[in-house]
Amino acid sequence: MTGMRVLLTGGAGFIGSQVVEALLARGHEPVVLDALLPSAHPEPPPPRPGEQRIIADVRDRTAVDGALRGVHAVCHQAAMVGLGKDFADAPDYVSCNDLGTAVLLAAMAAAGVRQLVLAGSMVVYGEGRYTCARHGVVRPGPRAVAELEAGRFEPRCPRCGAELRPGLVGEDAPTDPRNVYAATKLTQEHLAASWARATGGRAVALRYHNVYGPGMPRDTPYAGVASFFRSALARGQAPTVYEDGGQRRDFVHVRDVAAANAVALEALPDRAAGTLTAYNTGSGVPHTVGEMAQTLAAACGGPAPVVTGEYRLGDVRHITASSQRIADDLGWRAATGFAEGMTEFAREGMRAGPGGAATPTAPATPAAPAAPEG
Ligand SMILES: NC(=O)c1ccc[n+]([C@@H]2O[C@H](COP(=O)([O-])OP(=O)(O)OC[C@H]3O[C@@H](n4cnc5c(N)ncnc54)[C@H](O)[C@@H]3O)[C@@H](O)[C@H]2O)c1
Ligand SMILES: [Zn+2]
Repeated sequence: MTGMRVLLTGGAGFIGSQVVEALLARGHEPVVLDALLPSAHPEPPPPRPGEQRIIADVRDRTAVDGALRGVHAVCHQAAMVGLGKDFADAPDYVSCNDLGTAVLLAAMAAAGVRQLVLAGSMVVYGEGRYTCARHGVVRPGPRAVAELEAGRFEPRCPRCGAELRPGLVGEDAPTDPRNVYAATKLTQEHLAASWARATGGRAVALRYHNVYGPGMPRDTPYAGVASFFRSALARGQAPTVYEDGGQRRDFVHVRDVAAANAVALEALPDRAAGTLTAYNTGSGVPHTVGEMAQTLAAACGGPAPVVTGEYRLGDVRHITASSQRIADDLGWRAATGFAEGMTEFAREGMRAGPGGAATPTAPATPAAPAAPEG
């Protein structure tokens, strides 16, 4: 395949900067458009060697029109991520993520750019898939405060109250976004599907799981749980784990996610016009948050994790999905194993250095949310 010129929004971010590397390594020409949001970048990262960077907002139609010149495909990573501080953040999330996507898609429609890879998220599912021994697949609602207060973290069958067995969500599962961020990620997919239908475009949404790895933001309200644990360990403190540590997630390495983007971009020309297909993009192997804390602590030689029993409303208990469809259709599979990836991540955090690595002298931060999800 000859090199494609790809407009990569959010290309200065945690995942976007790895997508830059993956595209360059495969002979493509990434053009980054990023507003360098202060919430994502306490210090804006310098462009990578070979990276063309436009500092602009995706909501700025004129800038986007200019950035689309000569472009074959768009890889849309730009978004405000995390759970935000409170509901007052809702207009900012909707503006960045949904208005931003609409402006980008309208500009693509006008410029005749018909290929899109969208950074989706597993948050569109809400809770994972559960089976009741008596009632089969059921959909538990949000967990009640009284249950969480009592330390009963497992969702129960809405029909008989029995404990449920967690399973893997497939892409056809009903969506159930449970917070503003999740709603904006689902809306992005709906907008992209509408764009594809209206223009004959080809689109893929990659619903990433919990992405971790080098350059992961640390100690911002938007950082992931792996990053909080690592920062605590770098200060010589035990990672504090919410609930009972039994929450199941699929931790996928950022280099694997970047490769999935490159593979999806290369596959776009052969896909059916007028459609968007969503793919779960995970390692395929669930682990608990407690296991992750233990693995990081062991790799750092740090204190064992402390399980606090605290909880956050809006956190889901288990969310893991099957990544079989992307393997079957696009031939992508995660290559980095959990122990290998987490150990590398932990050791990076113990070294002072660039790329957001924590330093042992980093100051203690105020009570960090324990399980924010991308
Ligand atoms: N990190 C995860 O675990 C995870 C999981 C699922 C989905 N995602 C999705 O992956 C994508 C990248 O996330 P990330 O973790 O790299 O976050 P990040 O904050 O590191 O990167 C996002 C980048 O987008 C830029 N940006 C935000 N709004 C913009 C705007 N309006 N105009 C231009 N640039 C803008 C930011 O400056 C930042 O560089 C997002 O779409 C996110 O929803 C991430
Ligand atoms: Zn039941």
